[in-house]
Amino acid sequence: VKTEIGVGMIGLGNVGSGVAEALLGRREYFARQVGAPLIIRRVAVRNPDKPRSVSLPPGVLTTDVRAVVTDPAIDVVVEIAGGEEPVGAYVLEAIRAGKHVVTANKELISKAGPELLHEAHSRGLDIMFEASVGGGIPLIAPLRRDLLANRIDRIRAIINGTTNYILTRMAQEGLDYEVALAAAQGLGYAEPDPTNDVEGIDAAYKLSIMASLGFRTRVRHTDVQTTGITRLTAIDFANARDMGYVIKLLAVAERLDGGIVARVAPVLVPHTEPLSRVDGVYNAVQIEGDLTGSVLFQGRGAGAGPTTSAVLADLLDLAHAIVLGARERKYWGPDVDVPVLGSEGHESRYYLRFAVQDRPGVLAQIARTLGDAGVSISAVRQQESSSGEETADLVIMTHSAREGVMADALAGIAQLDVVTNIGSFLRVEG
Ligand SMILES: NC(=O)c1ccc[n+]([C@@H]2O[C@H](COP(=O)([O-])OP(=O)(O)OC[C@H]3O[C@@H](n4cnc5c(N)ncnc54)[C@H](OP(=O)(O)O)[C@@H]3O)[C@@H](O)[C@H]2O)c1
Repeated sequence: VKTEIGVGMIGLGNVGSGVAEALLGRREYFARQVGAPLIIRRVAVRNPDKPRSVSLPPGVLTTDVRAVVTDPAIDVVVEIAGGEEPVGAYVLEAIRAGKHVVTANKELISKAGPELLHEAHSRGLDIMFEASVGGGIPLIAPLRRDLLANRIDRIRAIINGTTNYILTRMAQEGLDYEVALAAAQGLGYAEPDPTNDVEGIDAAYKLSIMASLGFRTRVRHTDVQTTGITRLTAIDFANARDMGYVIKLLAVAERLDGGIVARVAPVLVPHTEPLSRVDGVYNAVQIEGDLTGSVLFQGRGAGAGPTTSAVLADLLDLAHAIVLGARERKYWGPDVDVPVLGSEGHESRYYLRFAVQDRPGVLAQIARTLGDAGVSISAVRQQESSSGEETADLVIMTHSAREGVMADALAGIAQLDVVTNIGSFLRVEG
């Protein structure tokens, strides 16, 4: 019978400090919930001299990660350092040394989740990663447990707080992308190098994790077709609003005939959809199951508090299983092999914005090119050009068309002399 649960940690930064503080401050409550106290045995960091907001008992802090992952008195290793390597190797070593693992590391789980789940399961262990997607919003546990009886048909998510903050400022204040990005950086919502967020890479990691669980298959982050937000302009936001839409970076995975598609891209979301009202750093995920219908999860997708909550949920769950003497954990890695399809066959409506020469017959030429490809127009707006300007902005909303067809039509339009450039090409969601 276990009288204490030994906890090892890799990382004592934003999230790690929150986790350590709660383990110390809520010790009695956690002990009652689990059936034994959780004791922090060792915490690995890079720099031992950094001032820390939480004070640990002497001898606990170390720079030797191997001392954490191999310590026989540690039952669960909590990895909140981040990055793929060297942390991935430490996690594997911890599992091989017989430890359960809790991690907040989306990159690691997106890239190596199935292997790590398999590695853990073969030893009667588990690796849990609620905090890797959506901060404190319960998403992984619902996909693992509560929605298990369903056939999941679709996951649609606003899953990156940085880009949602930038897009919200653009929508509400008419800011251009660079200005909104600088504001987000000033507030610490965007990193000095924002590439991972603004190019949609972070969202693709998170979507691949949710889609893999939802569809019980393996969806790699490289399977996710990813478009960032860097080319959006204030004009697109104004046009979208006038037509009853808002632009959001949406991560979508859905089941189609013959496979699934997964993509991250800025899209027009109708004002009537709940996801259109998820603003600022908030995240939301809508999951459609065949039995439940649509369920919506919403909350703070990052920050020390929410992420700490998710890490501790996993840790308490594992600690309780250990106290109960569980010798095995349910395998929850990929179960079937569902092909991931390209997007050519995917149908939706489109928002197109062109800079065109301001002279008669231009619209007719564009309409003919679209029509010849089989794309029909549902609405047209032309911004009056100010006197002296020779180009005008033409905005077209199409009826539903296949993406492959749309791409051909756009190639044709790009050839037209009267079209100066194709400014935007966005899907309309829903
Ligand atoms: N912050 C959030 O809102 C949030 C939300 C969801 C998920 N996450 C994930 O949680 C993880 C941690 O995020 P964070 O914001 O807490 O990061 P952070 O503040 O930068 O903290 C990282 C910690 O890990 C330690 N560390 C890094 N590499 C190490 C190595 N090779 N060996 C030993 N220690 C190492 C650092 O040591 P030093 O202190 O000595 O530098 C630091 O204590 C990341 O995977 C992140 O993606 C964070």
